[in-house]
Amino acid sequence: MSYSYQIQSLEQYKEAYKQSIEQPEAFWASIAEHFAWRKKWDKVLNWNFKEPKVEWFKGAKLNVTENCIDRHLATDGEKPALIWEPNNPEERVRIVTYNRLHKRVCQVAQMLKNNGVKKGDRVCIYMGMVPELAYAILGCARIGAIHSVIFGGFSAQSIADRLEDAKAEFIITCDGAYRGEKIIPLKSVIDDALIGNKTVKRVIVYTRTRIPVSMIKGRDIWWEDEMEHAEQQIEKNGKIHFEAEEMDAEDPLFILYTSGSTGKPKGVVHTCAGYMIFTNYTFVNVFNYQQGQIYFCTADIGWVTGHSYIVYGPLSAGATSLMFEGIPTYPDAGRFWDIVDKHKVNILYTAPTAIRSLMGFGTKPLEGKNLSSLKVLGSVGEPINEEAWHWYNENIGKKKCPIVDTWWQTETAGILISNLAGITPSKPSWATLPMPGVQPVLVDENGKEVIPTNNETIAGNLCMKAPWPGIIRTTYGDHERCRTNYFATYEELYFSGDGALKDAEGNYRITGRVDDVLNVSGHRIGTAEVENAINMHTDVVESAVVGYPHNIKGQGIYAYVILGKHNADDELTKKHILETVSKIIGAIAKPDKIQFVRGLPKTRSGKIMRRILRKIAEGELENLGDTSALLDPSVVDEIKNNRL
Ligand code: WTA
Repeated sequence: MSYSYQIQSLEQYKEAYKQSIEQPEAFWASIAEHFAWRKKWDKVLNWNFKEPKVEWFKGAKLNVTENCIDRHLATDGEKPALIWEPNNPEERVRIVTYNRLHKRVCQVAQMLKNNGVKKGDRVCIYMGMVPELAYAILGCARIGAIHSVIFGGFSAQSIADRLEDAKAEFIITCDGAYRGEKIIPLKSVIDDALIGNKTVKRVIVYTRTRIPVSMIKGRDIWWEDEMEHAEQQIEKNGKIHFEAEEMDAEDPLFILYTSGSTGKPKGVVHTCAGYMIFTNYTFVNVFNYQQGQIYFCTADIGWVTGHSYIVYGPLSAGATSLMFEGIPTYPDAGRFWDIVDKHKVNILYTAPTAIRSLMGFGTKPLEGKNLSSLKVLGSVGEPINEEAWHWYNENIGKKKCPIVDTWWQTETAGILISNLAGITPSKPSWATLPMPGVQPVLVDENGKEVIPTNNETIAGNLCMKAPWPGIIRTTYGDHERCRTNYFATYEELYFSGDGALKDAEGNYRITGRVDDVLNVSGHRIGTAEVENAINMHTDVVESAVVGYPHNIKGQGIYAYVILGKHNADDELTKKHILETVSKIIGAIAKPDKIQFVRGLPKTRSGKIMRRILRKIAEGELENLGDTSALLDPSVVDEIKNNRL
């Protein structure tokens, strides 16, 4: 398969961009021609941002897995679809060809069917980074079940909330997952999550670590047994096949929970056709992927980056996607570079937090590692600071590899703003230009477009004027929440929650969240969520959480906590609070700093003035701005004096 829609020059980018804005329907229809459809669409696009309602390729019928797998088999069946690198470098690498992937996904589909899973049912997936995770996801897509993958770092309570919200009836998990030196007991966490749960009927357990697990009669079954049985059922003359379910373009493909500024995480819903086309188009163009190249995205499939750029984007493009089970620092800080060398990786896509943490080890871990196969580097998840950008460019790319700084979100499905590798210019710490079909606009607080008066750089809140195929369709079970979160802040616009700069050439630089969402090591965490978790601790009366700049994580979590009861040992209380946060959300949400305070700066109406707390956490103690509206200004001095 060649990509006739792959942009080859800056001129072509400009042309494609122009056409995509002037005639979006014709533009996306011409791209959609390159996919496998059971039936073509009646209408390319229907939309309004009021409800919101967005439908792409309405009336079309397809199955995403036929596009990710079946259509490659005739010519590329023996090509590796996935290369799996285990946590322990001594363990055997697994190479999964497209033929093998087809077989396994068909088996999973049959296994799910045998267990009563039907089109539209929600299947929760809580697994480590094993190839079976990709089979599970695609097996769901094959029968039209809606997968909801939960990152392995989330706690039982977080899983319980998500299971309930999605009314999931099925779970696929592992006994445990390897993570560096540790084993995460996934099945045991699932058991805790299921206490009191009334909807889950089946738990399928894949054996990875062979740690002891408790299997509940009538509910829990082993993946291996089920897969073997499924294989026997669908084998015909030595061939395995499971007919894919015919899906409507706008049928949901998956739910992925993500944090917002208020309340519990929301289930972002993506649908079949638009998601597939957008992740494919952006994958091929941003990375300038060439047939046969080895592409390595270091993300976890528990996050959107793994969904879009380990599984769906690359596989729909017939690419070879390298999947890594471990962590960047195990067994040592040269792990990524060993993998690049061993598998002759051509494209490396990682997060600034990983780059910064590896930078801390210097260039010693790079010694003796041949990185000459690398052609393109990518960055995702948070703003990349110039220092990290240059380190990546000089030490990893040897100044020969374009770096794509890709800005996007769980809600956008794929990359919205990025340079195209080797095609459009890069600019350190700037995501640069919008993808074709993407219409960013910067607005002020009142939603008025910020227009430069001359050739200046402007700043504003980053919004989108029109839909692209991968835009969020709804938040699961609560469409109104989708509207208020993304489409109600500014009229007729999708609001990203990020602030940005735009220069005279039209380049964008993302400056970070402007709402109460933190980005810690590239993971999105709502301050309200962390506060709720801290407040669960019996000794806590109230808390306020803000972010502060952190050398490696990008942002750290700073918690101001009012205790109702002071124990003799403050340090022990802090540990208990951290334990509570781990239990309620997961270890990723643990505050880096906890400061006990007597009171919080509040307005007379009782609103916490986070601006002040943020400045103190950042170490800006002088210009705290106007504090006259505070109920009790003296608490500010006290907080300042005891700052950590
Ligand atoms: C941030 C991850 C700056 C941003 C794909 C966004 C970025 C949030 C970049 C989404 C980037 C992502 N430069 N900031 N290149 N990429 N972000 O949903 O704040 O986990 O809103 O999706 O990450 O995080 P999410």
